[in-house]
Amino acid sequence: MFSTNGRFVFYICWLLTISAANTRIKTLPTKQFPREFSFGAATAAYQIEGAWDVDGKGPSIWDYLVHTDPGHITDKSNGDIADNSYYNYKRDIEMLRELGVSHYRFSISWTRILPFGRANYVNQRGIDYYNKLIDELIANDIVPFTTIYHWDLPQILQEHGGWMNEKIVDWFGDYARILFQNFGDRVKLWTTINEPFVHCYFSYGYGVHPPRIRSPGVQFYECGRQILLANARAYHIYNDEFRSTQGGKVGIGLNSEHVFPASDSKDDIEGAKDYLAIHFGQYMHPIFSKSGNYPQRMIHRVQAASTAQGHNSSRLRGFNREQITYIKGSADFLGLNHYYTKYVYRNSSVIGVFEVPSMDDDAFADSYLDQSWPSSHAPWIREYGPGLHHLLVHIKDTYGNPLVYITENGVSTTAGLNDHTRVSYYRSYLSAVLEALAEGCNVQGYFAWSLMDNYEWSHGYTHRFGLYEVDWEDPERTRTPRKSAFVYREIIRSRTIDYNYNPDPYAGSTSTITSSLLVLVIVVLAGLIS
Ligand code: GAL
Repeated sequence: MFSTNGRFVFYICWLLTISAANTRIKTLPTKQFPREFSFGAATAAYQIEGAWDVDGKGPSIWDYLVHTDPGHITDKSNGDIADNSYYNYKRDIEMLRELGVSHYRFSISWTRILPFGRANYVNQRGIDYYNKLIDELIANDIVPFTTIYHWDLPQILQEHGGWMNEKIVDWFGDYARILFQNFGDRVKLWTTINEPFVHCYFSYGYGVHPPRIRSPGVQFYECGRQILLANARAYHIYNDEFRSTQGGKVGIGLNSEHVFPASDSKDDIEGAKDYLAIHFGQYMHPIFSKSGNYPQRMIHRVQAASTAQGHNSSRLRGFNREQITYIKGSADFLGLNHYYTKYVYRNSSVIGVFEVPSMDDDAFADSYLDQSWPSSHAPWIREYGPGLHHLLVHIKDTYGNPLVYITENGVSTTAGLNDHTRVSYYRSYLSAVLEALAEGCNVQGYFAWSLMDNYEWSHGYTHRFGLYEVDWEDPERTRTPRKSAFVYREIIRSRTIDYNYNPDPYAGSTSTITSSLLVLVIVVLAGLIS
């Protein structure tokens, strides 16, 4: 029912809940999202598309890992089908319409476009698929916001070293050029690479994601270094070859938590600064600071630890002058992915906790979540909306108030449509965005992660991040709006956060709709007869 008549059901349900809401006395909202503020929802190719080997697509590092070593995935699952969005993309767009968002953030699968990783062979059927998706979005008045790379590196490039091979800067630039050439007439908002920190930490730092390399003190930094150079390459290609005709914007997607020092002690304050420098500043500073290059405190920490470990040079390979200049300013906006806030401390209990060498040991600070904040199904996420406000102010004050899109924010729940945890989470974080806007932070848009439940990387299908629930038992992969979908829609419509709005996601079920229609028909007939 939802897959075919989803929009109808959604509107009826929404009208019912809206009319109920209107009968209440409402408290007047104090702050509003400006009209020009963009709301969207986000996904990523491997997490939703499925069709992993269809129409000429080549294998990515994720396809390779889940087929050769499924034991590393919590439920031993894979993204072979996932949400089957390769076939269900029209329903996805219908859902975006239901929500009333203006933007959709999705990523392009590198191996759908370039099955062998390199640009010498382009798979036309891959181009056709994204053309259909982009055209359908535009036909529905939804702005495509496209991520070039969301972690699904071609396996064949991994076999040549992946992010450890300096040639990846060329490989990535060539791939980005193909996307600009084919889609840049309609796509005006690009993010180059999603979350270098998380990608490098899990793939080359702690061996959780493919290629499962464990080198948190060396390859973790090398990965980030190549990513900064690759991002800059794509940015300069756009500038030199496409900007004048296409007139779009190219940004990078960085994740960051907000951090509080755990106490007023000098150690905790310095520890929190060093922690943030390595987690966020490592990527933010080279691109968005006035001076460019890695943050001085990060350079200092890694150098000092390397020296203490007997190395005659730092494990962090620096940039030369030319590279610093090439990277500086290589983003038109910051795509910020934010999920949680941490307390950071540095005391004697940190000694011996971390692997040596490692980026954690270099930062020499540990962190924890405040246990009094509302928990979620993901042990790593607890709700603390004001953290986003603090982080946005930090970005404004430290980096000259760059243009920011919040490209991911969301929380995991278990199955079920009454997702109170998510409703509370979104209200809290969106109200933090309102606070930040009121303080002059240059935030232009917000994307909920995620449009629908999807394949959560090494956690498989054990986490649900969706505004829409996906039935993975159903071959149709039916999508059903949760309570949070109605709440998000109402926020977008009204541009305010109404804490009294309390929709019932089950009110729109097939039986309710059918019986409402039946009653209507009977009333009309009765009227005619009398
Ligand atoms: C982000 C990642 C997304 C999604 C999200 C939820 O780090 O970019 O793909 O997995 O976390 O955990």
